[in-house]
Amino acid sequence: MSLNNLFRQKKTTICFTTPSHSQKFFITSKFRQFYKYDISETETHNPQEALTFAQQVAAKIYGVKQTLFLTNGSTSGIITAVLSCVNKGDNVLIWDNAHPCHKNSVELAGANPVYYSLDIDTDWGIYKPVSTENIEFCLKNNDIKAVIITSPSYEGVVSDIFEIKNICKKYGAYLIVDEAHGALYPFSDELPQSAVNIADFTIQSLHKTAGGLNPTALLHNNSDIDAKTALNKISTTSPNYALLMTIEKNINYLNSQKGKQKIKKLIENIKNLHRECPKVDFYCGDITKILIKKEGLSGNELSELLYKNGIEDEKTNEISTMLLCGLGTSKQKLERLKKVLRKI
Ligand SMILES: Cc1ncc(COP(=O)(O)O)c(C=O)c1O
Repeated sequence: MSLNNLFRQKKTTICFTTPSHSQKFFITSKFRQFYKYDISETETHNPQEALTFAQQVAAKIYGVKQTLFLTNGSTSGIITAVLSCVNKGDNVLIWDNAHPCHKNSVELAGANPVYYSLDIDTDWGIYKPVSTENIEFCLKNNDIKAVIITSPSYEGVVSDIFEIKNICKKYGAYLIVDEAHGALYPFSDELPQSAVNIADFTIQSLHKTAGGLNPTALLHNNSDIDAKTALNKISTTSPNYALLMTIEKNINYLNSQKGKQKIKKLIENIKNLHRECPKVDFYCGDITKILIKKEGLSGNELSELLYKNGIEDEKTNEISTMLLCGLGTSKQKLERLKKVLRKI
């Protein structure tokens, strides 16, 4: 049974069980529906079995050995991946400016961080892709158990995951890819290649670009280790099945014709924006991260001007500014951006 069907089942018993709101007592009625769908393990419902089934279906969709649904963000996926393949005292190669969860996960595993740096692309004020030569150098000179790469970066800079995996294989290290910002990649040929079928562990946030609720995410595992063991260690024993159900639905949507069309349309709309704003420089990376700069303006000035015209960006540096798009970025929203960009 799918997670979705759990919520279609009529309860035939009177439950003296958790959760204590019994799906009928709404402390905050604004979230009435949320209470209604907040169920836990009972005789009538067997959500654990439904979750296992949904995760197996997802693994098939992504073509990986194991997919785990996460309701504590990519953060929990990175921690799970590190705890799965790293032991106390091991060395883990991480980027010195990565999301804090990379270093935290190494610490939680009782392992030692070994740092690599990334060069700056001075034309755009953003980090360049991971240098494969540098990764090989680090692996050659240190006994490394696992490597964590962030690809894409916030700004949509993608690294050569295939080559990095080959290097990791040569030195017997696990490869963990933080693809938090790349959850749409497996569902479009026009987007960069996803790491899900290459890395040992790939972590994606559904909430960042793929239309999911905060903080839904996925951990894809191609290793021979069962990552569930580590995930259980850091997870509650009372998961929110309503959130988990949205993950199942989210994946099915992304994998459907409708979902793929939606991504295609989004890309088309952004391409139109490029064409219709010839005086704006667009960075060529993941097209769904609109990284722009404009002659005569610093990134911060551009960001301020956008804000004054009712547009809020995701991230800005001295040179450029980035507007994040995802499944919910409508044509109208992009039209509004176009108007403002043409005006300034
Ligand atoms: C590159 C990167 N990795 C991991 C995370 C953590 O993701 P989540 O918020 O889903 O836990 C973030 C969040 O901003 C991020 O930018």
